[in-house]
Amino acid sequence: MSYNTFGHLFRVTTWGESHGPALGATVDGCPPNVEITPEMIQHWMEARKPGQNKNTTQRREPDLVKIMSGVFEGKSTGTPIQLMIENTDQRSKDYGDIVEKFRPGHADYTYWTKYGIRDYRGGGRSSARETASRVAAGGVARAAINTLAQGVSIRGYMVQMGDKKIDRSRFDWDQIAQNDFWCPDAQMAAEWEDYLTWLRTKDHNSVGAVIEVVASGVPAGLGAPVYGKLDTDLAAAMMSINAVKGVEIGDGMAAAALTGRDNADEMSMGPNGLEFSSNHAGGILGGISTGQDLVVRFAVKPTSSILSTRQTITKAGEPAEIITKGRHDPCVGIRAVPVGEAMMACVVLDHMLMHRGQVGENQGSIG
Ligand SMILES: Cc1cc2nc3c(=O)[nH]c(=O)nc-3n(C[C@H](O)[C@H](O)[C@H](O)COP(=O)(O)O)c2cc1C
Repeated sequence: MSYNTFGHLFRVTTWGESHGPALGATVDGCPPNVEITPEMIQHWMEARKPGQNKNTTQRREPDLVKIMSGVFEGKSTGTPIQLMIENTDQRSKDYGDIVEKFRPGHADYTYWTKYGIRDYRGGGRSSARETASRVAAGGVARAAINTLAQGVSIRGYMVQMGDKKIDRSRFDWDQIAQNDFWCPDAQMAAEWEDYLTWLRTKDHNSVGAVIEVVASGVPAGLGAPVYGKLDTDLAAAMMSINAVKGVEIGDGMAAAALTGRDNADEMSMGPNGLEFSSNHAGGILGGISTGQDLVVRFAVKPTSSILSTRQTITKAGEPAEIITKGRHDPCVGIRAVPVGEAMMACVVLDHMLMHRGQVGENQGSIG
């Protein structure tokens, strides 16, 4: 199986399966002398780890990251950083039923068709356990970004569950950490709580979501036309997350409904230099960052594993019924928030390094 690596100069290779002994990431291209401790990486892992509340899967994994190489006396050495996370709470017997059957909405059928072999335990390599490795790598990326630039912050939150969208007039950054949903709208968080409880306990169903990730303080100039656009890499990074079915930058699909007068962000000189009147572009023009917030949204489909009977087929081509047992996220969007942040961090750092490599300090200035 090829294609387990992403990034250009900051390259991340993830490895491991859901029910194997361990999984992790090999991070190649982290600059030397970046302060990195296990605690710094663990901080981000805590946000993604399963079993923290009733609204996520009840699989309980401590997700403790071990740094196996590339860090000496608390600083990166510039050599590959190997990050390892042991799996401790596998329950493979839950997956006995899918040895012969393909679960609707899962990668069982496509893996089988492509490779003629699959680790069916918990979805094997196609499991979202893999995203733990991304969050660990994202922790390294965040540390390196902080060394290269001042004041970059990367924050994600959920803006929609099913057809229930947040009210942007109630947006409050401080609310995000106050509920199980990374929701910036306290009123909508309460509504989501009731809805998801009903879906999970009574309807035995699941629901999709939309997540927004914002990177603030990213310098202007990152990204390269024509085939190295920042938006191209961001979209690919988000689309590579399990269950993601749509990605938007800035106004995204909604931009098609605007006129040119409404859409183009006007420019003027303010007391501290260039100012934009709005950010329909999501902080990217011509594939290059403007210095405004980078704004990316992605849609995740509803969890396919639900406690309802579904129609499927066996490997022999016989019709069959299946109920997916095991422990599952009723709305994968919740735990996808830290994953989206991690992917944003990896892409931003990658482009910082490429920018430094290509133009150094040689940038145009205004005024
Ligand atoms: C953080 C996260 C957690 C997920 N948890 C589950 C889960 O508990 N049960 C499930 O059926 N799918 C879950 N998924 C989605 C599956 O991994 C995904 O749908 C499956 O691998 C098929 O891939 P695809 O949806 O990208 O085509 C999760 C996805 C993410 C990002």
